Amino acid sequence: MSTLIEGIDLEKSFRTRYVETRVLNRVCIRIGTSEIIALTGRSGSGKTTLLNAIGLLAPPDHGHYKLNGEEVDLSNIASHHRVRREQFGFVFQEFMLVDYMTARENVRLVTRSKSGRIAINAKIERLAEELEIEHRLDHYPPQLSGGQRQRVAILRAVMNSPKCIFADEPTGNLDSTTGARVLRLLRGLKSKGCAIVIATHDQEIAASCQRQYQLTDGTCEEITFN
Ligand SMILES: Nc1ncnc2c1ncn2[C@@H]1O[C@H](COP(=O)(O)OP(=O)(O)OP(=O)(O)O)[C@@H](O)[C@H]1O
Ligand SMILES: [Mg+2]
Repeated sequence: MSTLIEGIDLEKSFRTRYVETRVLNRVCIRIGTSEIIALTGRSGSGKTTLLNAIGLLAPPDHGHYKLNGEEVDLSNIASHHRVRREQFGFVFQEFMLVDYMTARENVRLVTRSKSGRIAINAKIERLAEELEIEHRLDHYPPQLSGGQRQRVAILRAVMNSPKCIFADEPTGNLDSTTGARVLRLLRGLKSKGCAIVIATHDQEIAASCQRQYQLTDGTCEEITFN
């Protein structure tokens, strides 16, 4: 399996007026093409920070980052936008949907496709059916339940067929049946060459991933199962 993303000695600190907190401390992580990886660790250990760092949303302050074997300049923020748009999909812990746009419009907003409107709509509806959200596509996020909003966020993330999806607690608001369905959809992307990084508190989900990294106060260690 070839390596899609490699992070070496990644560091990230947050500065408030009086204190500087180092949240990622020389983190090394590797994500293979179409690999499913779990990020675990206690609340506040740095999972979301690491997802945002390797997703180049809030890049690390220091370290090396390679994508498909090529070094990405972590200080060149402008170049990250294109990488994210063309190769990554995100499912945020807080969903980040636009409240004054319908679910369908939220998805369409990020859709990058040369296909016409009819083909795009057909894809949205096909994926919505898989996520059992097709009957809510014309609702606005405040009219949706937490779990429905989460599924719209997942639909938005998978729409552009990304090379890697960063999913922050993607089943956190779902009942076990719906959660299993969402995981099945995410896992199905693997056969299309998509890697998935899932931050989760759920040990069962973590154990079902191919590999697991555990964060403890900003340090990261791969857990091996025997
Ligand atoms: N913008 C910020 N400014 C200052 N500190 C921050 C900022 N973002 C995160 N932190 C701190 O970094 C640490 C890690 O936060 P992070 O959100 O990555 O944790 P997490 O593992 O995702 O937690 P959870 O399981 O609760 O989602 C926390 O101590 C948090 O307070
Ligand atoms: Mg988090």
